[in-house]
Formats: sequence, structure tokens, C-alpha cells
Amino acid sequence: MSEILECVGVGKRFGGVHALSDVNFTVTPGEIVGIGGPNGAGKTTLLEVITGLTPGSSGRVEFAGTDITGRTPEQVFCLGLARVFQSAAVFPSLTVFENVLAGVVYKGASKPRTPLTYRESDLEATRAAIDLVGLSDKADEVVEHLPILDRKLVTIASAICGKPKMLLLDEPVGGLTPPEIELLKEVLFKLKAHGITMLIIEHVMQFMSAMVDRVMILDAGRIIFNGAFNDMIRDVEVMRVYLGEQAAARLRESFAG
Ligand SMILES: Nc1ncnc2c1ncn2[C@@H]1O[C@H](COP(=O)(O)OP(=O)(O)OP(=O)(O)O)[C@@H](O)[C@H]1O
Ligand SMILES: [Mg+2]
Repeated sequence: MSEILECVGVGKRFGGVHALSDVNFTVTPGEIVGIGGPNGAGKTTLLEVITGLTPGSSGRVEFAGTDITGRTPEQVFCLGLARVFQSAAVFPSLTVFENVLAGVVYKGASKPRTPLTYRESDLEATRAAIDLVGLSDKADEVVEHLPILDRKLVTIASAICGKPKMLLLDEPVGGLTPPEIELLKEVLFKLKAHGITMLIIEHVMQFMSAMVDRVMILDAGRIIFNGAFNDMIRDVEVMRVYLGEQAAARLRESFAG
């Protein structure tokens, strides 16, 4: 099947900083692709450029057959490409239901609408998204009283309320305990079963190895590895980036011995 997402020669400069340089990759429908790499490698910037939050300096992004280069985040979201931010960006004083309903009502809206008006179909879409992430029992709870996992699930529910084809997630397991990571994994596999393609930035390698079909490693704004997770952990360049030159050399020597 043809690609759902394609980045061609994507670059991004912040003054003298080359945050992204000639980034080329594709994602196939249904895939879960992981993105790793050290701090400052350009992972978040890549999501910003794809979703139109930050315009790229060069290159092209195509999503589901449409050139989305230079589109606004609202336009990109309406085409079916949703994003979950690294911080659990919620309305803390609203309930789970109200948070997700706000996402449903405002999806694609370019300016605030007051008062908040909604239709029966918006309520149904809200219930469906909350159900999919397993928060139905907590729908009426105020979000600021919930643990971090539930707040993250609220942001995922808000992102999927528009039935996206693809979801971009930035370090979703940060701050979670191992049992919470297991629960989040189950939710993401459920989304995959619903046909949602995913691009997931993550530092936690155990989570990455369990979740992804393929992994890409960014270093200093360039993709230095794109392939299977098991090949990635044996890749000399990836080892150098993660462990440093000396440790990688020692590892190579131990393999050679
Ligand atoms: N708005 C900005 N203005 C100037 N420089 C920026 C901006 N956003 C990112 N950068 C720079 O671009 C580079 C890539 O940053 P980015 O946040 O994409 O890295 P990252 O891989 O997501 O890192 P982390 O793992 O710490 O989240 C860094 O050098 C960063 O300082
Ligand atoms: Mg980042």
C-alpha cells in the first residue's frame, strides 16, 4: 500500500541551529514507527514541522496523498493527522468528558466559539473516544484530581475524537510507572487495531521495543538509522550516539572478541 506520511528533504533552521537537515522517510498505513535519539536531536521539531506548528525551512511533507507543507495545524488535524503533546495539556478544572468534548467541538475551528455549543453527535463522538482509551468510569471526574496516566489518556482521547488516520505522540510514557506503561501500551495497541497509524517519539527503549514495527534514530537533525528495533541495538553509529565513542568502541571490541 502507498505511504500515509512522507517527508522529503525536510529541514528546519532556528537562526544558526540546524534542528533538522534533509530528513527523508515514509510511513505505511497501519505501522507504528518509533523515533529515538539524544536530547536536542530534533525529534519534537520534526513533529512541529509535520503538523504545521512550526514551518519547515525546506522540504515537503505529504499526508494521505495531500501535500500538507505550509498548512496550519487545524488544517492538518482536519485531514486526519492528530498530535499528542509531551506535556499532558488538559483543562485541569474540567471533567474528563468536558475536556474531550472541547476537543470534539473545537476540532478544526480556527477561533474560539462562545458559548460552547454542541450537537448530539458531538456527545456521541466524545463518549466513543473516552471509551476507546478506557476512561468511561472516570468521565465525570475533574481532571486535576486524576493521576498522570489518566491525564495523558484524556489528551489521547481528545486527539482521537476526530477519528484521525494517524497519531503523532511525543514521549508518551514519560513520568509513568511500569504498570502504567503496560496500560498505556494496551490502549495504543487498541488504537492500532482500530487502524490508526502511529509515529511515537520515545526514550524508554523497553516500551519502544514492545510497541514499534520500525524505529528511526535522529542525531543532530539527521536520520542515522531507519529499520528494525533489533538491528538498531546492534548498529555501531547508534551505539556511538547513545553511549559515546569510547563505550561504543569497547562494545565493538567485546563483540569482535
Ligand atoms: N523554538 C526554537 N527556537 C530555537 N531553537 C530551537 C527551538 N526549538 C528547538 N530548538 C533547537 O532545535 C534543536 C532540536 O530541538 P528538539 O526540541 O526538536 O529536540 P528533541 O530531540 O525533541 O530533544 P528532547 O529529547 O530533549 O525532547 C535543539 O538544538 C533546540 O535547542
Ligand atoms: Mg523533544
